[in-house]
Amino acid sequence: MNINGQHFTTIWPHPTDKGCICIIDQRQLPHRFVIETLTYLDDAIRAIKDMHVRGAGLIGATAGFGMYLAAMDAAYHAIDRTLEKAAILLKQSRPTAKNLGWAVERVLAAVKKAKEGDKKDIAYTTACMIADEDAAFCKQIGIYGLELLAAISRTKNGQPVNILTHCNAGWLAFVDYGSATAPIYAARDAGIDVHVWVDETRPWNQGAKLTAWELQQENIPNTLITDNTGGHLMQNGLVDLVIVGSDRTTHTGDVANKIGTYLKALAAHDNNIPFYVALPSSTFDWELEDGSQIPIEQRAGNEITSISGMNDKTGRIETVRLVAPRTPAVNYSFDITPARLISGLITERGIVQASRQAIHALFPEQGQNEARTPMKSPEHRHYIRKKALHLLDYLVIDQQGQQTTYSMGRTLDVSENGLKLETTQPISKGDTLIITVGLEDDLVDLRGEVITTEDFGEYFFTGIEFQDISEEGKRIFKKYAEAFSTSCNI
Ligand code: MRU
Repeated sequence: MNINGQHFTTIWPHPTDKGCICIIDQRQLPHRFVIETLTYLDDAIRAIKDMHVRGAGLIGATAGFGMYLAAMDAAYHAIDRTLEKAAILLKQSRPTAKNLGWAVERVLAAVKKAKEGDKKDIAYTTACMIADEDAAFCKQIGIYGLELLAAISRTKNGQPVNILTHCNAGWLAFVDYGSATAPIYAARDAGIDVHVWVDETRPWNQGAKLTAWELQQENIPNTLITDNTGGHLMQNGLVDLVIVGSDRTTHTGDVANKIGTYLKALAAHDNNIPFYVALPSSTFDWELEDGSQIPIEQRAGNEITSISGMNDKTGRIETVRLVAPRTPAVNYSFDITPARLISGLITERGIVQASRQAIHALFPEQGQNEARTPMKSPEHRHYIRKKALHLLDYLVIDQQGQQTTYSMGRTLDVSENGLKLETTQPISKGDTLIITVGLEDDLVDLRGEVITTEDFGEYFFTGIEFQDISEEGKRIFKKYAEAFSTSCNI
């Protein structure tokens, strides 16, 4: 991403000194842009604990490089043992983000497998791979998320799509692109007008200090709001979509994210506004059964009782006390948004329902490969209620039987036993689509074969013929087809 027009990632190996890793000290932003070098394991631990770096993806990447720094410092014969200890220390640095333990374990496993003389190099290449993958996955999240924004944009007659986000799940929280922001950047690049409501996100103010700044650097229109404003905006039709990040997501779809996220999800639910969580797969916890088991970090109360910012007169960053001395404060850093309040998870493999079944079907290598149920999406109903009758969600199964994409498309035409769909992703002839159609709560999943495809560069038209429709399916599709024709005639 860009800072004053120059491309940066949030972490990178020093260009000339292989023993150092560079980071941006995020405590100084947006007032000062300070690059810091990490040389020892302790530097990496301190950077994570004291939030020089923060955000799930970046914490993971820093932990990966922290393992590398520990390896560099170790005698060859003692690398495994040194890294086992380093892993314990790194994992204790912050408890909630899953990416931390995941990255540490990945480097440890790779190093243990390597020959003694290769271990340091393997620690380095694995840490670099973790960082590169983080950026690549976020970019992919952008591609999938773009479809949601494009679909909303088409219903808005040229008005900007208003996205609300909480905290910073932007590129500063990852290595590049961000998770929640990647679809926004992709939409901007696709010529879609967007505007972002940025929650300030007390007490660290990651929204005010980081998200607003990074969006500004990327020329994305944005407006800062207090953490209490979102509900009011939603009630007044000023939010089209909420996208947040995640620090840990259970394989059952519950999401831990910055404190206050749950309240946004409740407000979005009450106002029928799609609420999406964007995360790379490194954030999934494949063991915890529900969100209540996720460790919630508690930080010092003085992060609430005081506030820091730049003194414009002296140019110094200062911290001031907000409250009477000795005011007790409790500082929970994260909360849990239950799966039922989430419209979908935007991952590097596609958009998926926040449910055990759907998540495992998208990541079958994690075991428990159960059949996936396409989502009866709240946003589908949302748009149907708003009379945009043509928005459908669909799931693609390729000719090898693998699920390749879960996404949203627009109905272009309906016939007696099929329909034509517009998507922003190509779908191949012969693939199978499972499409959710219907009105309000009268929805059904119809299975169909792709019989025609047309490529228009940015858009793809896909003709589908339904197979084996039950009587119930026929009834619902007929109702949908009639409503579609009526809406086209308005
Ligand atoms: O305390 P932080 O800044 O490390 O918290 C992480 C966050 O910024 C958010 O919870 C974010 O939405 C998810 S991290 C991608």
